[in-house]
Amino acid sequence: MEKLLIEGGHPLEGTVQISGAKNSAVALIPAAILADSTVTIDNLPDISDVETLAYLLEEIGGSTELSDDTLVIHPENMFSMPLPNGRVKKLRASYYMMGAMLGKFKKAAIGLPGGCNLGPRPIDQHIKGFEALGAKVTNEQGAIYLQADELVGARIYLDVVSVGATINIMLAAVKAKGQTVIENAAKEPEIIDVATLLTSMGANIKGAGTNVIRIDGVDKLNGCRHSIIPDRIEAGTYMIIAAAMGKGVTVDNVIPLHLESVSSKLREMGVHVEARDDSIYIESHSVLSPVDVKTLVYPGFATDLQQPFTSLLTKSDGSSIVTDTIYSARFKHIDELRRMGASIKVEGRSALVNGGTRLQGAKVRASDLRAGAALVVAGLMAEGVTEITGVTHIDRGYAFLEEKLKGLGANIWREPLNAEELEEVKSS
Ligand code: EPU
Repeated sequence: MEKLLIEGGHPLEGTVQISGAKNSAVALIPAAILADSTVTIDNLPDISDVETLAYLLEEIGGSTELSDDTLVIHPENMFSMPLPNGRVKKLRASYYMMGAMLGKFKKAAIGLPGGCNLGPRPIDQHIKGFEALGAKVTNEQGAIYLQADELVGARIYLDVVSVGATINIMLAAVKAKGQTVIENAAKEPEIIDVATLLTSMGANIKGAGTNVIRIDGVDKLNGCRHSIIPDRIEAGTYMIIAAAMGKGVTVDNVIPLHLESVSSKLREMGVHVEARDDSIYIESHSVLSPVDVKTLVYPGFATDLQQPFTSLLTKSDGSSIVTDTIYSARFKHIDELRRMGASIKVEGRSALVNGGTRLQGAKVRASDLRAGAALVVAGLMAEGVTEITGVTHIDRGYAFLEEKLKGLGANIWREPLNAEELEEVKSS
């Protein structure tokens, strides 16, 4: 067990390369189950979720080869092994194993992680979709059991716009009989990425990226090669870091269109943001204006960037309101930012950030992935050294974090936890 240490206050300069999208990767790897021959996925981020999912594919009889940023998946010998417990419970995105295994084997048993750090995260819309396709779904001791004699296309209206439900229903429907229509579908770029992989495998999907997706079922899907889109949340995080401390930072290997909501908020604050072909150049200013931020489904401001953006707002010259309309309890980072001297008040789904405070290095704990990102941003801005525990959360989503930040001139390193800190982690 390690902690992350950051000596703040260093101006950052240079170029940072963005990895492949985590939230695509965690869906694309299970999607390979649906193929009958080898699937190769390139541009994978070097994060722990990728290793966990590759391990799960091996548990169900597949074989995988992971080297650098490429994963080769051989699905030929996979079978419908139930996974009610074990590593499947380490990440929420294991829920994509449900759609993929149901689509391929007509049955699945997948354990799910329990209470989550962002507040309630129901999967009722996923279940509603599977049932509409003809599956019988039961929940026994924290695992979801799915079974269908056959899957038949259906018209499914999502009551809540959900990335996970949209992708999961696509996975279950690509081999169903007839046509499936998903209405009120989510429009995130990761959905288009999954649809692109499935289409390369031979699926027939129209409308991914709009709110109506039409899928005509096919009997067979083959292997293919696919390169993952850049991670817009990792990119957004580095843009925020550049806005906080950057003398001139190029965030490279991005799709600028995916980053418009964060780019325009940064411009509103007075940051110089220049979108180029596949990079964004950012130069910060010493005075930043306060702005209000409301998270929305894509193309609105991403909830995943709300936490790191809140850290940046502590530097602005006035008061800002941050409202998360997607997750009601995504404010676990606020107490930690307060330990660093931030003046922030949470009321319901909103946080009132009184800017203009210089953060001070402190001992803080990352309660979830993006809370961790918020603390990294804060640590880079703060005076003195910030010690962040809960690093495993950060490692789930940020590949080569220290290397990338050191490349920009940050002073960041890891140390093992001492006995007292280990005790604290165990009891938390
Ligand atoms: N919701 C329901 N019922 C459902 C599904 C979702 O009520 O069946 C609600 C959720 O509670 C939430 C909203 O709908 O309020 C949106 O949830 P969504 O299903 O879109 O989220 P998700 O698919 O579980 C993905 C990302 C999250 C990201 C959200 C929102 C993955 C693996 N995760 O989650 O990413 O915050 O979309 O964009 O793609 C992260 O990267 O840190 C992360 C948490």
